[in-house]
Amino acid sequence: ASDEENLGNLKHQLAKLFEASLKTTVPNEQDLEPLIAACTGKFGDYQCNNAMSVWPRIKGKALPFRGPQAVGQAIKTNLPPSEMIESCSVAGPGFVNVMLSSGWMAKIILKMLNDGIATWAPRLSIKRAVVDFSSPNIAKEMHVGHLRSTILGDTISRMLEFSNVVVLRRNHVGDWGTQFGMLIEFLFEKFPNIEDVNEAAIGDLQAFYKESKQRFDSDADFKERAQRAVVLLQGGEAKYRQAWAQICGISRNEFDRVYQRLGVKLEEKGESFYNPFISSTIEELADKGLVKESQGARVIFIEGINIPLIIVKSDGGYNYASTDLAALRYRLNEEKADWIIYITDVGQQQHFDMVFKAAKLAGWLPAEDGKYPKVSHVGFGVVLGDDGKRFRTRSTEVVRLVDLLDEAKTRSKAALIERGKGEEWTEKELEETAQAIGYGAVKYADLKNNRLTSYTFSFDQMLNDKGNTAVYLLYAHARICSIIRKSGKDIDELKRTGFLVLSHADERALGLHLLRFAEVVEEACTNLLPSVLCEYLYNLSENFSKFYSNCQVVGSAEETSRLLLCEATATVMRKCFDLLGIEPVYKI
Ligand code: ARG
Repeated sequence: ASDEENLGNLKHQLAKLFEASLKTTVPNEQDLEPLIAACTGKFGDYQCNNAMSVWPRIKGKALPFRGPQAVGQAIKTNLPPSEMIESCSVAGPGFVNVMLSSGWMAKIILKMLNDGIATWAPRLSIKRAVVDFSSPNIAKEMHVGHLRSTILGDTISRMLEFSNVVVLRRNHVGDWGTQFGMLIEFLFEKFPNIEDVNEAAIGDLQAFYKESKQRFDSDADFKERAQRAVVLLQGGEAKYRQAWAQICGISRNEFDRVYQRLGVKLEEKGESFYNPFISSTIEELADKGLVKESQGARVIFIEGINIPLIIVKSDGGYNYASTDLAALRYRLNEEKADWIIYITDVGQQQHFDMVFKAAKLAGWLPAEDGKYPKVSHVGFGVVLGDDGKRFRTRSTEVVRLVDLLDEAKTRSKAALIERGKGEEWTEKELEETAQAIGYGAVKYADLKNNRLTSYTFSFDQMLNDKGNTAVYLLYAHARICSIIRKSGKDIDELKRTGFLVLSHADERALGLHLLRFAEVVEEACTNLLPSVLCEYLYNLSENFSKFYSNCQVVGSAEETSRLLLCEATATVMRKCFDLLGIEPVYKI
């Protein structure tokens, strides 16, 4: 996915140079992909690792090399001249180390400051993606797992959008299924007059769900009516559709309040949306000979998996898998997605694995990996409480997400007041900063972990102003902004007229880290790992601290250049915050 104008991505640019060199060095070896890795040793900033794997391939052929070291030497010699490279050396068994030119690095950073951070966006080979995330279930609780999916999905969408991919953000809400029979019947019972139904009258929808479930489990008559209601609803009976729509509407408002707070945009296309497409989907699969009968159900057998994928239940009803197959087909054929990403807890991994394999059997997706369109399941671990068990407030009750966000904000406001901001700031500033820090802390605590591992939810930890937390990072950014402000210089003017020089070792290290932004975002996108971006951001802030404690900025001979370096750091930090869905703070 390289591109000549992709100035930000050093790896891609070096890969191009080494590709040319490899062609000259070993002209008869086809499809050699340059292997470029960032390194941190004193010998170089990047290295090319091809020599070691090329050597066994050419050994014995009539080429003037003796051993991988000689191949490395030749790769080095044949490297086309480039202003980005300061020097090159061959080390060990044939590593070709590249030291970048500090002058070139400074030039590229200054260019980004003038042309905008978007010029450092990754270039991906996909154009349109569906990101299926959040996806809570109507009338059931939206729990911390859904929060995790929401936060991860939003960040993944933001990273892809930044990379100029058209992203269809899909909320695959659980708004269809047998539980609606019972909910509708219970609604009719409680509100004989349908006009009386509204959010206030229903109150807590989860409690409503529980109550109706109790009725369902204890009253055979009710159960029968509920089962009939499902049939009537699915048959499109107006009165039942209306009741269904009312219940969904109330639930939707509740979800929207959470999305609004988090600043997350989503388009709902719930399970019900795909219902009309299920029967034709199953017909197509059956025509292809994939559907078998098993114990009254219709299933697809998948090699290597010991349970079949049930797509029509023994009672003739459709299920989660039938909906997902119809949705997948829709996303491929109608929405023309070339990458479809599903974000749920790891517990659903097998479900997606089977759905994806079925789609490959049907020929909807290419059989080989690495071809498009492609699908990915982004699994994540559970959020734990202090007790090491699934996170809940009280022993039985799940955490209400809005309460959780409220608490994060309240706590960060208290911390600001303790720092004396109560007198210094207006109430509005206090509120806004508390919110940015509080919500940012919740998001960052979630995103910084490798998503596959479970993590413990702790306000104390996430709101700590030291260590790898949003608070620490937001403060660091605000401090940089205040250095620039206090210098009294017009930074936009400096961008146009000033020069950037990376002469001190800590200036250079910071500059190099800034320049790695593009390849890090690309890696985070390709591997769907927001934690990679968090780690980058944290290291950026560490690099900055080191620079700032060893290099005087304001009042020094290098002031202009160093202010520009501050501005570049703040710019990249803000882009990271933006990709992580975190609101930056400008003063502390
Ligand atoms: N509603 C599901 C749940 O709460 C998640 C749906 C994920 N998306 C999908 N296409 N299956 O577990």
